[in-house]
Amino acid sequence: MDIAILAIDTSCDDTAVAILKNDMVQSNIVSSQTDIHKNWGGVVPNLAKRAHQENINPCIELALKRAKMNMDDLDAIAVTYGPGLAPSLEVGVDAAKNLAIEHDKPLIGVNHMEGHVLSPLLKNSKGNFYAQPPEIKYPMIAMSISGGHTEIVLIKEKGQYEIVGQTLDDAVGEAFDKVARMLELGYPGGPIIEEIASSGDGTSIPLPRPMSQNKGFDFSYSGLKTACLYKLRDLKKEKPLAEFLPDFCASFQEAAIDALLIKLKKACKKIRPKLVLIAGGVSANNRLRYKFRQAMTKLHIPIIFPHKKFCMDNAAMIGLVAYQKYQRKEFIQDKQKLDRDPSLVI
Ligand code: KG4
Ligand code: ZN
Repeated sequence: MDIAILAIDTSCDDTAVAILKNDMVQSNIVSSQTDIHKNWGGVVPNLAKRAHQENINPCIELALKRAKMNMDDLDAIAVTYGPGLAPSLEVGVDAAKNLAIEHDKPLIGVNHMEGHVLSPLLKNSKGNFYAQPPEIKYPMIAMSISGGHTEIVLIKEKGQYEIVGQTLDDAVGEAFDKVARMLELGYPGGPIIEEIASSGDGTSIPLPRPMSQNKGFDFSYSGLKTACLYKLRDLKKEKPLAEFLPDFCASFQEAAIDALLIKLKKACKKIRPKLVLIAGGVSANNRLRYKFRQAMTKLHIPIIFPHKKFCMDNAAMIGLVAYQKYQRKEFIQDKQKLDRDPSLVI
């Protein structure tokens, strides 16, 4: 039997609603707030909350319309209840509770990080995104790389997660954003740095690969950020920024990617996963995809990335987790009691 789920994610600065039939995305609405926050260099929680409140109902209506469904067609309502910004999470959780109570549907609470981790497994409405769909076998290793997270997660079995490595300070996306700010390039920094780096030489400016010699699978990005700051100050004394900007962006990007890849390879050699999943905003980076694919080909381990539209925050990935939870009948017993949990861990 097909299961139709409406999923909501308001964990940070995007209002997202999606409808899935099983693991297939029927509609995917993301109302971005980038324009609201870009002048502040980051997300302002109360502005985010207000925008979510304005956008949530129109997004729900549009998601239903695009999927050619109405509330009666749905089997459950799912929502992200953490981690994220408390004022933002509240809006989605309230909307989902109201819908589930008013229309008497099961309510499913989802961890945003679990959503990212599974996002490479989403399918389109015809059932595929890949020319050759990956074989679903466990254990898997997932890497979640975004503005708030840098984690290596072991998926032992469906729904069983263990964090094996994480950042001790900044997230990798945060490093992209901070280096972009240093270079006065705007926010979010990742896509801008990638674009400028494409005309630069990534080997031209020596930068450290932090933690590469350390035992274990943890990351650290604050040292790379500081190294960039000093290198930029020195280079600016020698020549105008425009003369070395592409080389600087490319060199930083190589260092940031290598630091991830060194740990991923190490984890793969130890765990020998059957499949590697890469997810989160930074997984949209083409240079990263190329280098990761090359490395995994050498290790004979299949690797998949989300469709580009599912790298950033979205609700389709929340719907996919919810579909697995629906099969396990993991419903919120007292719908009124579902509360946001800003520091939820996977
Ligand atoms: O997953 P996401 O939309 O939000 C969370 O942080 O949860 O990720 C946003 C992050 C930002 O730090 C952004 O700079 C980074 O992902 N990012 C990229 C690229 N696109 C987005 N980093 C590197 N290369 C990209 N192409
Ligand atoms: Zn996210």
